[in-house]
Amino acid sequence: MFEVLSNDPLAPEVHRLVVSAPRVAKARRPGQFVIVRLDEGCERIPLTIADADAGAGTITLILHAIGASTRAIAATPAGGTLRDVAGPLGKPTHLERWGNVACIGGGVGTAVLYPLAKAAAEAGNKVYPVIGARSADMLILADELAEFAEEVYIATDDGSRGRKGLVTVVLEEMLAGKLPRPDAVFAVGPVPMMSAVAELTRPAGVPTIVSLNPIMIDGTGMCGGCRVTVGGETKFACVDGPEFDGHLVDFAGLASRLKMYRREEAAATEAHTCRLGRADGVSEKPSRE
Ligand code: FES
Repeated sequence: MFEVLSNDPLAPEVHRLVVSAPRVAKARRPGQFVIVRLDEGCERIPLTIADADAGAGTITLILHAIGASTRAIAATPAGGTLRDVAGPLGKPTHLERWGNVACIGGGVGTAVLYPLAKAAAEAGNKVYPVIGARSADMLILADELAEFAEEVYIATDDGSRGRKGLVTVVLEEMLAGKLPRPDAVFAVGPVPMMSAVAELTRPAGVPTIVSLNPIMIDGTGMCGGCRVTVGGETKFACVDGPEFDGHLVDFAGLASRLKMYRREEAAATEAHTCRLGRADGVSEKPSRE
């Protein structure tokens, strides 16, 4: 059992849990994730390790409570327990000293982006987060990113904070040299957003790393649930990723696979059961958050 030490709302339906998991906290590196199971028989939910404190033996998880299982986990109060926290899983983020790094996060993808951006800054890069959400109340981690970023750019669909529009508008200005031009880009968020970022950076020749969120079940490369096509080859996001070269990812195939379990998830949500897992907790067939 893993004790939940705190559970704070960050935005509507978005919770930040600090969980006691000393072994994971010690072993974890940026970019890795865990698979969480609330109780026996519950769905396995992959969640990015947003942060960790090896000394305190804690990890921080951020999840979007939009399905039966993530709602159940999000409802776990401080003092409650999670039955399983398996990990750390996946490959750690590949880091270089690129120079300027644009870190683009859409929605709850910003929770996955945060540890990558922090690691890039610690590796000596100048980090420029560009984070977007539907509205100001849905933005997360802007203040936390500002602690190590050169500047945080914000875009909201309704213009309630920052620019009105998509994060790609800011990226276009960066690539045009109107804002600091990136030498590398991280992008995490909805598939259309990551695809759009990759198409903008491809002609500019800017290396682009995306963190993919396919459906995950075992998280160990055995089930094939998280398979994605990268550079024409089949890869398993849980063991070969979750980060890949954005210019090589088949985003259309990924989008198609993410739709596969919508009917089952709707049924599980309707029944308030805790059965089905995604690498961002967003869908509920499990995929990572
Ligand atoms: S989650 Fe089963 S192979 Fe990746």
